[in-house]
Amino acid sequence: MCGLNGVWDITLLKLNVHKLKFLKSLKTRIFLILFIVGLIPCISMRYAILQNYEQRAVDVRTSDVTTQLRILANHLITYHYLQDTSSEVINAEINQLSSLYDGRVMIINNDLRIVKDTYGISENKTIISEEVIRCIKGESESKYDKGNRYIEMTIPITETINVGEGPDAENKEQVRGVMLVSASTDSIMITMDILSRKALIVEVIVIIAIFIVSVLAAKVLIRPFEKITEALNEAQEGYTDTPISVTDCLETEHIGDAFNRVLGRMKMLDDSRQEFVSNVSHELKTPITSMKVLADSLISQKDVPIEVYQEFMEDITKEVEREDKIITDLLSLVKMDRTAADLSITEVDMNVLVELIMRRLRPIAQKRDVELVYESIRPVMAAVDEVKMTMIFSNLVENAIKYNKEHGWVKVTLDADHQFFTVIVADSGLGIPKESLDHIYERFYRVDKSRSREIGGTGLGLAITRSAIIMHRGSIRVESIEGEGTTFTVRIPLTYIAV
Ligand SMILES: Nc1ncnc2c1ncn2[C@@H]1O[C@H](COP(=O)(O)OP(=O)(O)O)[C@@H](O)[C@H]1O
Ligand SMILES: [Mg+2]
Repeated sequence: MCGLNGVWDITLLKLNVHKLKFLKSLKTRIFLILFIVGLIPCISMRYAILQNYEQRAVDVRTSDVTTQLRILANHLITYHYLQDTSSEVINAEINQLSSLYDGRVMIINNDLRIVKDTYGISENKTIISEEVIRCIKGESESKYDKGNRYIEMTIPITETINVGEGPDAENKEQVRGVMLVSASTDSIMITMDILSRKALIVEVIVIIAIFIVSVLAAKVLIRPFEKITEALNEAQEGYTDTPISVTDCLETEHIGDAFNRVLGRMKMLDDSRQEFVSNVSHELKTPITSMKVLADSLISQKDVPIEVYQEFMEDITKEVEREDKIITDLLSLVKMDRTAADLSITEVDMNVLVELIMRRLRPIAQKRDVELVYESIRPVMAAVDEVKMTMIFSNLVENAIKYNKEHGWVKVTLDADHQFFTVIVADSGLGIPKESLDHIYERFYRVDKSRSREIGGTGLGLAITRSAIIMHRGSIRVESIEGEGTTFTVRIPLTYIAV
């Protein structure tokens, strides 16, 4: 049985959570907040007004009755009513008073004997109650009994007497008896009921008004957000469209701006992807076209001498090598685009690494009559990916040799501080025009296309170099004067910091 109850509980809970889902809507929340904020003062005002009225009405009634009773008390003394209750005038006055306030009047003398009771049931009986005794001592009291709807009052009947003689004579108040009176508050309650009913009607009208205003306000407040959702949905169909603009309020304007920036970036990425694909296709096609031209011309000729064949085949081989180099470079670049987790970090002696690169490139330098100089300021041990480091500095030194003049020089300097090591590759070469400096790291960018191709460049070297440096959280900087030379400065942390 217990288990079954548990199942029921969970089902109910799910139902409730499901039911409360509407609370997730911003519109509902705004509505609820406005409605509750409007409701609280409305209800509390009605309560406060009624409370205030009741208190005030009871006070007025109490003071009215008290005034009347004080007048009566004087008459009671004048007519010696406490000793003789036969006075018609006083009896009429007492009865009139009790019927006026729809209550009961009891006149009690000093011996606590009830000499007059308008209800006629307690006459000649003795009353012993705290209030009466307190009143005989001169204290008058009033008490409001809300539940039974009456005010109970005790008023002393006092007589003024002269004490002493001559200059010492003075007036003194002497309590002769007590009036115990209860006055009905029915009339107050009836007024309260009428007032409460009227207030309730006003309250209901105000609540309906608050409800309508809250619904409208929630609708108006949420409208800009609905507009922005609409605009986002429209933009989803393709990000070539016009930018979104919802200027209804500052917040939606900010959302629109942020979205437009994301849209711009997506468009830029899309453009650069398209450009890259078209560049790759073009670059890969060029050697194939050359090979086809060479092969076609061989086929179209008859009785071609063997020397011409050999020459053409050499050219075709060069084009195949070029194609191979482009593909190899592209693969390296793709690898760089992956995460830094692909790095295989080891402790590398940078002096040994740079020296090895220089030794490998020396034959090319000699062929072009370029002098290679290496200066190591201090021994450097760094935590880096050895293969990628080799790629970085091979590319830079190779460029420095390739884009150099005859009898030129290339100087490589290795230095370090306690945080970074620095490799400076300076050359006395052609230099890079100012307007090209911002583009040299772009894929397939070459200052002089024909010359670079002649030298065997793909335009991918510096793109690969920069990616590899960034993977090591390093930086690369270039300074160049056209016709005088170029200096690349690479700075890489000595210890690898994983994110
Ligand atoms: N040391 C240098 N001196 C002059 N120009 C250079 C140097 N290094 C790079 N460049 C220019 O930057 C371009 C891009 O270099 P890179 O990305 O290595 O491509 P490439 O395959 O042409 O060498 C080169 O085509 C060249 O015009
Ligand atoms: Mg290069």
